[in-house]
Amino acid sequence: MLKGKKIVVGITGSIAAYKVPFLVRLLIKEGAEIRIIMTPAATDFVTPLTLSTLSQHAVIIDPFKAHSGEWNNHVELGQWADLMIFAPVTANTLGKMVNGIADNFVITAYLSAKCPVYIAPAMDLDMYGHHSTQNNIRKLKSYGNHIIEPQVGELASGLSGPGRMEEPERILNIIIGHFAQQHVLINKQVLITTGPTYEKIDPARYIGNFSTGRMGICLAMDAAERGAEVTLIAGPTNLTADHARIKRINVESADEMYEVCMLEAPHADIVIMAAAVADYTVAAKSPSKLKKNHSSYSLELLPTKDILLEIGKKKKKNQILVGFALETDNELDNAKQKLIHKNLDYIVLNSLKDTGAGFGLETNKVSIIDAFGTIHQGNLKTKQEVAEDILDIICKHRTI
Ligand code: CTP
Repeated sequence: MLKGKKIVVGITGSIAAYKVPFLVRLLIKEGAEIRIIMTPAATDFVTPLTLSTLSQHAVIIDPFKAHSGEWNNHVELGQWADLMIFAPVTANTLGKMVNGIADNFVITAYLSAKCPVYIAPAMDLDMYGHHSTQNNIRKLKSYGNHIIEPQVGELASGLSGPGRMEEPERILNIIIGHFAQQHVLINKQVLITTGPTYEKIDPARYIGNFSTGRMGICLAMDAAERGAEVTLIAGPTNLTADHARIKRINVESADEMYEVCMLEAPHADIVIMAAAVADYTVAAKSPSKLKKNHSSYSLELLPTKDILLEIGKKKKKNQILVGFALETDNELDNAKQKLIHKNLDYIVLNSLKDTGAGFGLETNKVSIIDAFGTIHQGNLKTKQEVAEDILDIICKHRTI
């Protein structure tokens, strides 16, 4: 199942390192090519000789090969790998990963990764539960890493609780699942909109909203990782979406977004409208900066075109349309009405009433409703995890 896949295994100094030779054996049995990197502390728990024998390659511990003065190139390793799995990862290494403290080869390789990164923490339950560790895990998730949560069970300290590194068989399945899902959207064209739109009042001012564009960018990255060719139409946002399969088109106003969407949507197999498009625009934009020489000021606003409604009207056979609904009241009914009115296959409901959900946050909580009325109720998750949930559902659609 992993034939030809190039995987870097990074080991740090936890007792759970004794499980890694089993993981390496399982990966090799599946046909993967393995390179192993270790922190010096990890060598106290499992020997480099065991690992180099299993992987049939020298294990890298030092940036400089002992005696020869030769440099081990972490950048090359970062480019070589299709996937990096760091297991076990100590609380210390989690902190270094978050802050980019590159004082060993494992961290330099992590920072050079161009591929998906999986991290399997292992530590005692109190260390795992500490705010610092939990904050670090949240940050690593928000950077796009996949965390393989530790299991609850007996720990080396004799205590029992969460902190046991996930079992090698289960890590293998996660890795196999990763590569399997990578191909699901191959040859599919996916159009995603994201960010706010800015409606100019004059050259210095605009009407906008609090959207950061993070949700749409997480969707774009995840769709690209699953093999799709993604066109990302982004309103003003500073966030980047670096992936070879993402073509980004920046727009500013609702009208510009409409024009680009009308050109791109007919080519798309899947359209996901995550943008927070302005519903109204300024009737008469002033060419010069407005002066404060009025005691009060009224702006005339005119409705913008509803992009998703237009795409829904022209929906092609087998095209999948996904909209978002941002609601504060009567959430479910409003979302269901939008789904029907705009001819959608799915609507992702965000309630601004939910703590941790909405604009400008790292997290989100959504319900995904399909055209048959089935509701997939989600918990509070990172936006990356929400993006994965949305794409998991789309990938099971009958036309994919
Ligand atoms: N949308 C759009 N074009 C607009 C406004 C909204 O394509 N001019 C899309 C959004 O990207 C989203 C969906 O329509 O996917 C629903 O947006 P939302 O703001 O929740 O609802 P509206 O349809 O604008 O209705 P209302 O603001 O009255 O709730």
